Amino acid sequence: MQALIVQNQHDKTIDSLTIANIEKPTPAADQVLIKVHAAGLNPVDYKVVEGGVAAWTYPHSLGLDLAGEIVAIGDHVTGWQVGDRVSGHGDLTKNGCFAEYVTAPTYQLAKIPDKVSYETAASLLCGALTAYTAVERKPNLTNVKTVLIHAGAGGVGSIAIQLAKLHGWQVFTTVSTNKIKYVQQLHPDAIIDYRKEDVSARVKELTANNGVDLIINTVGKVEAEQDLNRLAYNGTLVTIVDVPEIDATQMFNRGLSIDVVNLGGAHLSDNPSQKADLGKMNQEMLQLVADGKINPLIEKVLPFTEIKKGLQLIKDHQVIGKLVVKVN
Ligand SMILES: NC(=O)c1ccc[n+]([C@@H]2O[C@H](COP(=O)([O-])OP(=O)(O)OC[C@H]3O[C@@H](n4cnc5c(N)ncnc54)[C@H](OP(=O)(O)O)[C@@H]3O)[C@@H](O)[C@H]2O)c1
Repeated sequence: MQALIVQNQHDKTIDSLTIANIEKPTPAADQVLIKVHAAGLNPVDYKVVEGGVAAWTYPHSLGLDLAGEIVAIGDHVTGWQVGDRVSGHGDLTKNGCFAEYVTAPTYQLAKIPDKVSYETAASLLCGALTAYTAVERKPNLTNVKTVLIHAGAGGVGSIAIQLAKLHGWQVFTTVSTNKIKYVQQLHPDAIIDYRKEDVSARVKELTANNGVDLIINTVGKVEAEQDLNRLAYNGTLVTIVDVPEIDATQMFNRGLSIDVVNLGGAHLSDNPSQKADLGKMNQEMLQLVADGKINPLIEKVLPFTEIKKGLQLIKDHQVIGKLVVKVN
């Protein structure tokens, strides 16, 4: 079968990736074999190439976000049938879905509702499930009325804004100038141009000096350290890229919390309920889209031969919205 592969451990660039013929996989007892119809592209896809993953065997086929059709079932699998339309966010230590076929354990899968296409399902995994975890799973939402979501035009931020609006919160978001128009379609209550404006001053102004109750940080450590000063009393920072240095006195005095999201960590957690939550969150997200409550914001569907081009565009920050690849 055809797959986009990392040939060996010395291949550390997007350019070094190749499409090659590799052996079609066979499902283990707790796995299904999926004919891949569509795959989602994410920043993590090129980051793992550049960083390397010790657990990989070579050739390694890339790709985490899959949507396709079950074509074979392992001996111990129950509740799933050949012909089921499924999607799932894969384990980055295993061979992935930039390939005609992929095997997957069933805990990560969800059944795609009839009115949702393979392309849409593939777009709702890494970014959308991270946003879902950051909004619906990690923070205590009891006292949340205001939220600051960084990088509102990004894969994670754009879904987080929509989930936050469904809660009825006041939503503030940071973007650079050329993404303001795009993010307006999500109707945040305030858009902060982080390259031109003082984000902390704007947050103070928007909250009558109180700070925000919740911050979703999708950009990194430096911003996360500033975010701690932007939180209201009892506020929570959810961080998905890095963990800030903390001032224990400030954290204690102001009753602050930090939640860390590592979506793919669930695969390696050895915790059956955390693993199963990947499939559960996926099902819930698919339903929100089927019900018309969340817009997946697909920017473009690329042919399989253009995955490298798509990854380069993501790396160069040239993409607004989700890139999806049609595989079969
Ligand atoms: N922990 C996890 O489980 C997990 C899961 C998924 C993703 N991630 C990581 O989370 C990050 C975001 O993912 P994504 O899919 O949303 O990426 P994305 O779609 O590429 O969006 C990231 C955007 O952040 C913006 N940005 C950079 N610095 C900023 C700042 N200081 N303030 C506001 N915006 C800023 C950039 O837009 P501008 O052009 O406006 O600068 C960039 O396009 C990536 O690093 C990804 O690897 C982590």
